[in-house]
Parts: sequence; structure tokens; C-alpha cells
Amino acid sequence: MAEIIVIASGKGGSGKSSFTAGVGRALANLGKKVLAIDCDIGLRSLDLLFGVTENVVFDWGDLICDRCTFEQALIKTEIDLLAAPRNFSDEFTPEASAELFKSLSKDYDYILLDSPAGIDRGFQLAASGADKAVVITTPDNICVRSCARAFDELRRLGIEDARLVINMFEVKPVCKKKLLNIDQCIDETGVQLLGIVPRDINVGFSSVTGETPGEFSPSSLAYKRIAKRITGARVPLVCE
Ligand SMILES: Nc1ncnc2c1ncn2[C@@H]1O[C@H](COP(=O)(O)OP(=O)(O)OP(=O)(O)O)[C@@H](O)[C@H]1O
Ligand SMILES: [Mg+2]
Repeated sequence: MAEIIVIASGKGGSGKSSFTAGVGRALANLGKKVLAIDCDIGLRSLDLLFGVTENVVFDWGDLICDRCTFEQALIKTEIDLLAAPRNFSDEFTPEASAELFKSLSKDYDYILLDSPAGIDRGFQLAASGADKAVVITTPDNICVRSCARAFDELRRLGIEDARLVINMFEVKPVCKKKLLNIDQCIDETGVQLLGIVPRDINVGFSSVTGETPGEFSPSSLAYKRIAKRITGARVPLVCE
């Protein structure tokens, strides 16, 4: 049975989709069977990050509404992928999404749910189906505060196993006290750290090329360390 992990943040643009793609690829490279489900209804992006936009015909909303089979909705790329619906429907309830996501878990080691920004309807749909959560913050007060709010909401939904990832980390501004340091991010959210991803210009190229940011780019190395930690391996936070 797969571990179903929702990737959330509160604030938009913190790097949830990039993280889902990067860690999804890294888990697959460790030999794990991974399904990523884009839960950002109306604003999907995982298809772009994997360069498979032209292959999207059906989405997981079509599965809930019985308009296609799983095989028809499934997009095969470096990992398996289900695209997000273009629009909300009354049939997309937290119960329906949870039932669908759990029904897929027997064929995978990990299911990654790429949640939309915010803590309202789309987030609730994604989080309802999850066993665990990873919340992505950037090292600034606005994002960290929204993450703390997301952790509260996850707890309210019964998800106790939630971990923090600090994305777009940069040493110089932290040393100059212009960004929060690691301890400040942990203290403000009160949540255990899963990993740190440095700011890396290569991440931005992925949505244009549909390719990995490069095996040895700083972000790919960070995603790899985080993937190993997700599997339970003891890996240092910042170097191998
Ligand atoms: N580690 C990083 N270094 C540099 N840029 C990054 C990093 N992670 C993400 N980005 C960039 O930040 C932007 C937002 O990333 P992404 O789309 O993954 O965030 P998101 O949290 O999924 O956004 P949304 O809330 O809109 O779904 C993108 O331009 C992406 O390339
Ligand atoms: Mg996103």
C-alpha cells in the first residue's frame, strides 16, 4: 500500500509543484513506484514540469465522474501522473477524492498529492486523501506564517505526521538576517524539518523544457536527499 503524502504550503508559489516533480523523480530513481496527482484544479502544472501536456486527455475528475478508466487517465512519464481537472464540480467532494486516491494506493509505493495554494476547497480535497503531509515554505515571515496555518488545518483534518521543507534557501541573505534562518523557520511553525532545497535557477527551466533540473544541480541533489529521508534512510540535511 502506498504512503499518500499531500504537498501543501498555505502561500502560493513556494515550490510545491517543483518539489512534487523533483522528489517524485528522485523516489523513482530509488526504484520506488510513484504516482503524482495534480490537485491544483484549474491551475495544473505537473504536466508542464514533466513535458507531457499534449498527452493530457482525461484527468482524475473524469475518474470520479466515471467518464474514463484509470488506464485512460494515467500519463506515463518518469513517474505516473494524473492531471488536475480544469474546473471544479459538485461531485469533487473530500470523500470522493479520498476514496479515489486510496483505491489507487495498492499499485504504488508513494502517491504525491500536489495541493493548490491556500487552505480552502482544493487543499481540503487533496488533504482528505492523505496519510502524511509535507509543507513547503520559503524562508520569510509571510510564507512561514501561512505554513503554520496549514499545519493547524492538517491537524484538524487528522493528519498528525506533517514535516517542513524550506525551499529557495540562500545562505548570504540569511547571514545578513534578511531571510529567516533554519531555526527560526522551525520555531515559527513548530514542525520537524524534512529538508532544505536551495534557490536554484535550474528549477525554473523545467516548466519550459519538461526536463529534470539536471542530475547534479543543487535542487536535484536536495530532492534526492529528501527522497531518501522519505524512505526512512538516515541522510544529512545538507550534504551526503
Ligand atoms: N528551489 C527553487 N529555486 C528557484 N526557483 C524555484 C525553486 N522552487 C521553485 N521555484 C520557482 O518558483 C516558482 C513557483 O514554483 P512552483 O510552481 O513549484 O510553486 P507552487 O507552490 O506549486 O505554486 P502554486 O502555489 O501556484 O501552485 C516557479 O517559477 C519555480 O520555477
Ligand atoms: Mg503548484
